[in-house]
Amino acid sequence: MRPGALTSTSGGLERPWETLGPTWIEIDLDALAGNLTEIRAFVCRSRPEHARGFAERHGLRPPSGPPKVMVVVKADAYGHGAVETARAAALAGADALGVSTLLEGLELRQAGLTIPILMLNPLTPAEAGTAVLAEVTPTVTDLGAAEALSQAYRALPTGPATRRPSAIPVHIAIDTGMSRTGVKPERVADLAVRIAAQPGLTVEGLYTHFSTGADRSPASLALMRQQLTRFAWAVASVESRGLVVPLRHAACSAAVMLLPESYLDLVRVGNLFYGYGGSGDAMAQVAGKGAAGAAAGTTGTDAAAFPKLREAWTMRTRVLEVREVPPGAGVGYGPDVVVKHRMRLATLPVGYADGVGAEIRPTTFRPRARLRVFVRGLFIALHRRGLLVGPLARLRPRAEGRSIFEHDGHPLDIVGRVSMQQTIVEVTARPEITPGSLILVRIRRVLASPRLGRVYFRGGRAVAARTVSLGSEAAAGWEVASPPTQAAG
Ligand SMILES: Cc1ncc(COP(=O)(O)O)c(C=O)c1O
Repeated sequence: MRPGALTSTSGGLERPWETLGPTWIEIDLDALAGNLTEIRAFVCRSRPEHARGFAERHGLRPPSGPPKVMVVVKADAYGHGAVETARAAALAGADALGVSTLLEGLELRQAGLTIPILMLNPLTPAEAGTAVLAEVTPTVTDLGAAEALSQAYRALPTGPATRRPSAIPVHIAIDTGMSRTGVKPERVADLAVRIAAQPGLTVEGLYTHFSTGADRSPASLALMRQQLTRFAWAVASVESRGLVVPLRHAACSAAVMLLPESYLDLVRVGNLFYGYGGSGDAMAQVAGKGAAGAAAGTTGTDAAAFPKLREAWTMRTRVLEVREVPPGAGVGYGPDVVVKHRMRLATLPVGYADGVGAEIRPTTFRPRARLRVFVRGLFIALHRRGLLVGPLARLRPRAEGRSIFEHDGHPLDIVGRVSMQQTIVEVTARPEITPGSLILVRIRRVLASPRLGRVYFRGGRAVAARTVSLGSEAAAGWEVASPPTQAAG
């Protein structure tokens, strides 16, 4: 399709992107920009002197000022769309971007982004030449990759007409307890010295990643502290060899909220930037000891100290068909479900290829967590098949957390197996749901297929769209006053 065709075929429609299909994802760019401002303010409020004190206690060079903020845009910016999100972050003042892979970095460079980009996966020697040409800062965890980088640097053309940088910056990842990637603390100093000795390379960064995810219990906080201490030991061993590494970084979103001493020279934020995990209940248990407590200047919990974050991501779809089925009718593949009572069913045009129902539950070795997952799964399976009896039959599968599908604030139960691109939900108690009704879809953002169109809003107006088949397209001609609301269905 030629550029501009989208706008010319969609004139007059309230939501012109619907000419491309009944499922889409809305991204509020103002929310992303606002989140970055909030995070930066929070990090400054949360007393960077904690990080200075920490550095002094561990014999490290003190950080020179408030930490820089790197926005992590890996995995298609956690499903928000890498290029538009990265542009929004850069515009809102991000100091750097973090990606996982070299291709993710290339995508951003090709879109014209000039801000520093750190590739968080360790570089393979084969990628060295591309990383140097694209000016994507690599993470290095062995000498082989460093040698390949140095070779690629020396192969760059020299002369007045070329822009050969004075050196290629690299960051060394240190494994302080996650056992994922990185050099063991006791090996870092040797590696850093040998990398620094490679012609054309400079060690710009040393970093580690915390294993703490959504779980923000006091035990997790203790684990983070342990990792941070190991990191400090590793950094001190490098500094004792006379190397000055300007960017020492450890803090991800959880650490920004909980561990101000981990801020050092830079913080790397993903979840907080996208609007998750910045407030509320889970934090309350530990916040008094963490950054929120520090920001509030108290040892207790003070919700006012939390950054005010907004989720930027909303996925919507429209009902394709609605039907009544009699007792005995099979539903979906298998059929896994044979209905017992007359039912009203709605078919939605999204399935596991779009990321619905594709969440993989992590296996866990903790017996209590395993038992919980098993009981929850059993409950949901019995509920879906109508096999719960007595008072249990009245229970809703709250165990599933938030429902995936919602209409006008009411959760809708999935019936049968989720298909590749369709899902059936029960709407017996919701006669107002008809073909075309607007349904809110809640899935893990990062699992939402990149094939789904993203529509970007700024100042309440749709300003751009991204579809994999058509690419990005300016939507300045779209007559959209504000993002559609759930009630619009
Ligand atoms: C190395 C690294 N740093 C930072 C982040 C950002 O983490 P978060 O989204 O929790 O802020 C990630 C994401 O997993 C990561 O892998």
